[in-house]
Amino acid sequence: MNDLDRLRSELMAAIADAADVAALEQIRVLALGKKGRITSMMKDLGTLDADERKAFGQALNILKTDIAKAIGSHHDDLSSKELDARLMEERVDVTLPARSEQQGRIHPISQTIDEVVAILGEMGFTVVEGPDIEDDWHNFTALNIPPDHPARQEHDTFYLPGNSDDERVVLRTHTSPVQIRTMQMTEPPLRIIAPGRTYRCDDDATHSPMFHQVEGLVVDETTHMGHLKGCLIDFCRAFFGIEDLPVRFRPSYFPFTEPSAEVDIGCTREGGEFRIGHGDDWMEILGCGMVNSRVLDNCNIDSTRYQGFAFGLGIERMAMLKYGIPDLRTFYESDLRWLRHYGFSALDVPSMVGGLNR
Ligand code: DAH
Repeated sequence: MNDLDRLRSELMAAIADAADVAALEQIRVLALGKKGRITSMMKDLGTLDADERKAFGQALNILKTDIAKAIGSHHDDLSSKELDARLMEERVDVTLPARSEQQGRIHPISQTIDEVVAILGEMGFTVVEGPDIEDDWHNFTALNIPPDHPARQEHDTFYLPGNSDDERVVLRTHTSPVQIRTMQMTEPPLRIIAPGRTYRCDDDATHSPMFHQVEGLVVDETTHMGHLKGCLIDFCRAFFGIEDLPVRFRPSYFPFTEPSAEVDIGCTREGGEFRIGHGDDWMEILGCGMVNSRVLDNCNIDSTRYQGFAFGLGIERMAMLKYGIPDLRTFYESDLRWLRHYGFSALDVPSMVGGLNR
């Protein structure tokens, strides 16, 4: 047996023994790589005399081709075996039921906002947003709350440092400034809702320095108080899922609406248990009114031609009433046990078609 035959049988044996693609690749590099054994023998051909070089060169070429072929065919075998093994291992049994132990829950604030948006969205309102940091004019003055107005004191405003009085910047105390921004940017007819965070310097069992509101605004040439009432009665009944829920409009005052009203829903406190629905008691849930013509004027909307209504509601309060959550502060404690109890499944997307209630 000459050297080449020995090399051939040695390599062929190694190829046949290679258990996986990586081992095979190692053999390829050792034999045919840049510094491989066959490659270096090829390089050394130049040192032989012409006759020897021809015979040895031919034999070497045949060896090289055979080894490459053997590696190629073993490679095909190995990789199809490896693929089979992987497919077996990664097989998914599509007949298994979906996992029920999903961890994350949707926070009741998010869920309640989604519910409000679903109901009012169905009525043709579109969602808009405004900045949490507002200037004094949008948050107060444009809403007919001038600097000396008593309503300003009621708002316990967080003022941000560094600006002179007339361009003072605040954390918005309500979502009503989004009304102003919308009217400044868009021509009527308008039908928008603006959910978002609001801030007041107040912190106890029933107040949080950060809370959420949803603002509503309709402006066109024909909308009147009857539309306001119809819209909000339908909204309350859909939100609480009680078809004949008693809804009452009580005269009130807000600088940005005239006339203004507060909306109460029926409830009972019989036997110490609070329940929404028919009863002998009322619970206030939102503020509303016809947009004050001064507010329209402030936004350069012709108040002899256009009119409309607005409303504002507190999300935490709506969530507490609907889902029986007794303490406002628990919303922000990030207590996982609380969230597991009061939270919602991610698949529980509120829609008027799907039904809003659990
Ligand atoms: N902005 C009021 C508040 O935070 C709520 C409100 C009342 C909004 C009446 C309105 C409205 O749009 O018409 O107390």
